[in-house]
Amino acid sequence: MSIENLLQSLSELEQKSQTALAAIDGPDALEKFRVEWLGKKGQLTEVMKSMGQLSAEDRPKVGARANEIRTQLQVAVDLLAEDHQNKEWAKRLESERIDVTLPGRKVSGNQEHPVRTTMEELVRIFEKCGFMPELGPEVEHEFFNFDALNIPAAHPARALQDTFYVKGYPQIVLRTQTSPVQVRTMLAQKPPIRMVCPGRVFRADYDATHSPMFHQIEGLFIDTDVHMGDLKGILATMIRDFFRVELKVRLRPSFFPFTEPSAEIDIQCPFCEGKGCKTCKSSGWVEIGGCGMVDPEVFKACGIDPDKYKGFAFGMGIERMAMLKYGLDDLRTFYESDQKFVSQFSRWRS
Ligand code: DAH
Repeated sequence: MSIENLLQSLSELEQKSQTALAAIDGPDALEKFRVEWLGKKGQLTEVMKSMGQLSAEDRPKVGARANEIRTQLQVAVDLLAEDHQNKEWAKRLESERIDVTLPGRKVSGNQEHPVRTTMEELVRIFEKCGFMPELGPEVEHEFFNFDALNIPAAHPARALQDTFYVKGYPQIVLRTQTSPVQVRTMLAQKPPIRMVCPGRVFRADYDATHSPMFHQIEGLFIDTDVHMGDLKGILATMIRDFFRVELKVRLRPSFFPFTEPSAEIDIQCPFCEGKGCKTCKSSGWVEIGGCGMVDPEVFKACGIDPDKYKGFAFGMGIERMAMLKYGLDDLRTFYESDQKFVSQFSRWRS
């Protein structure tokens, strides 16, 4: 092929490519054009392949012309690509436009969760009765959570299905109750002791009335002359203050390894005031926790003389108290982080 012929084909190619370029109507057509004209198997490459037949003198002339066309096409393709991109962005900006004149969503910070409100309210009530607030660790040694509380190794509460253990540390548990704070307080302080301890506890359980994490409040009162009448008096005072109505308190005999005697704390159902309803399963009573006189074994484990001192202890579920106060029937609603739910009960904090 002569140089004239080649230059002629290049000019025709240039013409045709310009016509094709003008017909491009979108990103797909542009990509097709790029492959067809500038790609490895494109028309320009085909023409340039025949350059080998030319003399060494002619070859650069055709090469220069071919490169000129290639550059032209490349610039045109780049410009079109940019143009398409801009149009695409403009379209998105239009369709995803933010109406800055709309009022913003209210930031709902500072709202207090009903569990916290209830917890603080209960602590305040016990503080008024002279109980000092204490806190203990949520990750606990089994000595405090079980052993010192007279819960032997074979006790079902230690079984894996209830207790969360820490992998690699067989003696470390997530505390299953706030009662270990009784032990910590007795070891750290000398009687007389009056302490109240709120906090998180953990058990491998989950349904409408059980959550793997929940809250308890614990109380401990130790002195030389303490009896169950004192315990009942304190509980009755707390119930009156918390529910703002006079509700009877009933201590129903039960068993806890760390108290003797032990009792379940029942109160008259706050919904029907004892008449019988769905919440109390028509019994007129609802259970709110456990209590009893501190077992001498616990005193011994904590270095307190059981012949000299007596004490009572109690533990209650905070969610349970909140549910009874606010009339809720599913514990799980507390943990769904639903602002609409939380804001119904919450105080605004300043
Ligand atoms: N720790 C017990 C529980 O989680 C509740 C309890 C019962 C606490 C009796 C006490 C008590 O202090 O005396 O089921």
